Amino acid sequence: MASSKIKTIGVLTSGGDAPGMNAAIRAVVRRGLSRGLKVKGILKGYDGLMEETIKDMRAADVSDTIERGGTVLYTARCAEMRTEEGVLKAVETCRKHGIEGLVVIGGDGSFRGAEKLANHGVNVVGLPGTIDLDIACTEYTIGFDTAVNTAMEAIDKVRDTSASHERCSIIEVMGRNAGYLALWCGIANGAEDILLPEKYDYDEQKIIDNIIENRRRGKAHHIIINAEGIGHSASMARRIEAATGIETRATILGHMQRGGSPTAKDRVYASIMGCMAVDLLMEGKTKRVVGYRHGAFQDFDINEALAMTKEISDYEVEIAASLSHNYNKYDQMNMSELITEE
Ligand code: F6P
Repeated sequence: MASSKIKTIGVLTSGGDAPGMNAAIRAVVRRGLSRGLKVKGILKGYDGLMEETIKDMRAADVSDTIERGGTVLYTARCAEMRTEEGVLKAVETCRKHGIEGLVVIGGDGSFRGAEKLANHGVNVVGLPGTIDLDIACTEYTIGFDTAVNTAMEAIDKVRDTSASHERCSIIEVMGRNAGYLALWCGIANGAEDILLPEKYDYDEQKIIDNIIENRRRGKAHHIIINAEGIGHSASMARRIEAATGIETRATILGHMQRGGSPTAKDRVYASIMGCMAVDLLMEGKTKRVVGYRHGAFQDFDINEALAMTKEISDYEVEIAASLSHNYNKYDQMNMSELITEE
């Protein structure tokens, strides 16, 4: 039974949904109940605290959810939570419903909201839920593994038709301002070019030269993975076709990357993180974010986590390029420097 002072916790999902969020919710609910806590599900992210759409969660409410994409609690991006008035309303709802501890599953924006609640006495723990992998304190975010596998399978399919028609294909993947999904897909799909917001120099002539060179070497297709943060795939395709004379098509994978049944990794990691969140709250901890770093699950102060930065690895970018035969882009780089930098 609970030895903590906290008797009731809440859980919500906020921001873009991500496969594995249900596994995390399930873990929070079942871990909480098994420790003698009351668990409340807040519907539609922070909107649920504005509108008081809150329900008591029983173990059965999360049955048959671990294998489902999306989030059974629904999600939203709540503009009101960015105002002081909204925060106070959320705090008041927590007080009214006896929610002393809150697990917030989402990205950096959601953690900022959580931090404000904590300043008003609600104990909070954040879990990193986003397909973008753009949370600095962690090397893993709930949903990334599934999203990258979903995109990889879709790109394999585009590649089949691209090769049959001897076309160039630009495939745009999500990631907001981060290039992690694009880099992983680029390596996993053996793309000829990978355009990352963190690295792209907007020199289209280099891409055009690569396409012409690849065609000269007898390659039937040319796959370019373009990150959402760069965008403009359709106009890029038109310019490339005009410059190379090679038919070029743009495919934007879009929201299909956010759906689907989570991979084993997303189910297991999200389950562990969900349990950790409950354990932290029961230990009386607040303003924490759970992350996975250097091979271990850890928790961080929420402000320190929000202040952290992380960068796409130059070494991995170079590896992706070298495996695609585009040596010309990277032959000026000093390899030993790249390796020791990481
Ligand atoms: O953060 C997840 C994400 O899918 C980003 O990759 C993308 O930029 C954004 O959400 C799209 O948001 P929305 O679903 O609101 O269009």
